[in-house]
Amino acid sequence: MMNGPSTARHELNPRWCLAYDTIDRQDIDRLIQWLGSYPRLTKGGVTREFESRWSSWLVRPHSVFCNSGSSANLLMYYALLASGRLHNRKVIVPSVGWITSIAPAIQFGFEPIMCEADPETFGLDLDHLETLLKQHHAQTVMLVQVLGVPHKMRELMALKARYEFLLLEDACAAIGATYQGRKVGSFGDMGSFSFYFGHQMSTIEGGMVSTDDKTLNDLLLMLRSHGWSKDLDGETHHALVSRYGVDDFHSPFVFYEPGFNLRSTDLNAFIGIGQLDKLDWMTEQRRRNHARYVERLSGHFYAQRPPQGSDVASISVGLLAESRQQRRRIVQALSAHGVETRIFSAGNLGLHPFWVNRYGAASFPVADRIHHCGFFLPNHQGLREEDIAAISTIVLEAA
Ligand SMILES: Cc1ncc(COP(=O)(O)O)c(C=O)c1O
Repeated sequence: MMNGPSTARHELNPRWCLAYDTIDRQDIDRLIQWLGSYPRLTKGGVTREFESRWSSWLVRPHSVFCNSGSSANLLMYYALLASGRLHNRKVIVPSVGWITSIAPAIQFGFEPIMCEADPETFGLDLDHLETLLKQHHAQTVMLVQVLGVPHKMRELMALKARYEFLLLEDACAAIGATYQGRKVGSFGDMGSFSFYFGHQMSTIEGGMVSTDDKTLNDLLLMLRSHGWSKDLDGETHHALVSRYGVDDFHSPFVFYEPGFNLRSTDLNAFIGIGQLDKLDWMTEQRRRNHARYVERLSGHFYAQRPPQGSDVASISVGLLAESRQQRRRIVQALSAHGVETRIFSAGNLGLHPFWVNRYGAASFPVADRIHHCGFFLPNHQGLREEDIAAISTIVLEAA
């Protein structure tokens, strides 16, 4: 927790945790039963099955399972570079998101340019984005779908068409959110998801990249595993083998790209399939809880406003206090009553040392307010109406 708590007792054992495991006893029992069949554990058929089910759920043809949401972002950035489609390495990145929405850009020698947050969704501010596009002609834009609240996709996609940028869509914390009936993470040229603890579903650790683009998918598959072609479909694999005149003995260990090892395992994929079966139900509980919080608190606090025709899939509920002092009071009260809280995502990433030390502070009115006044309230599938009523009362009384 960020600010000084008034009692230590609840901090050690909060009554209301921010996140709750989505892998329950039943999931563990199923896993034990499956392990009893002595299955293959490394990436294999179960991973392919999970990827295929994920693609059907998302309604996108191609998906690549990897070992974290951060790895998914890393793969997206590097696949773009490897695709040869970029004639510049300028990328517009969000001020509100996660460190690994931006870190690969720095690691791979992109030139990141930071964008203000939208006052309603907290995604990319569209006016600022357009100004930056005109000024810098960046060919890549990284969008974070903030906290399960969909961004204004109609307007963003219109800008994409006008300025012809490639869109990376980080939906790591927005699994199951929809915009006009379409799931977030299916808008960008590639979309990423995280299955870490506390997210809408979990594979312990895990991530996914999904795309409509077969060429990008082939690159993602190669980059995930060392740069070899073994994971490609037979036709694409054989086309490469014959193009480079590779014989059968060498072909499994010929490297076409300078790859990574970002694989997950069939064990994690097995858990993922079980999670996917109950994902829509879990998302519905989160949605209902989010609406309950909004009903009780949105008249008193600044909150994200989802665009018309969208459905949130809130991971935690984020609110903005009126001032730093008010936030301090609320955080202390929550802590004293055993309610876990924290800063709003990472606040403004442009104020963190990793950014300030390279490019100087990137300060913007909305992102800074989120940084200094934002806080999280618990949301998960196990939270009930009376929990939300109690937590809301604590917040209101402290405010
Ligand atoms: C927006 C966003 N992107 C990326 C990540 C990284 O995901 P992971 O923890 O699976 O690496 C997170 C993690 O919470 C996130 O919120």
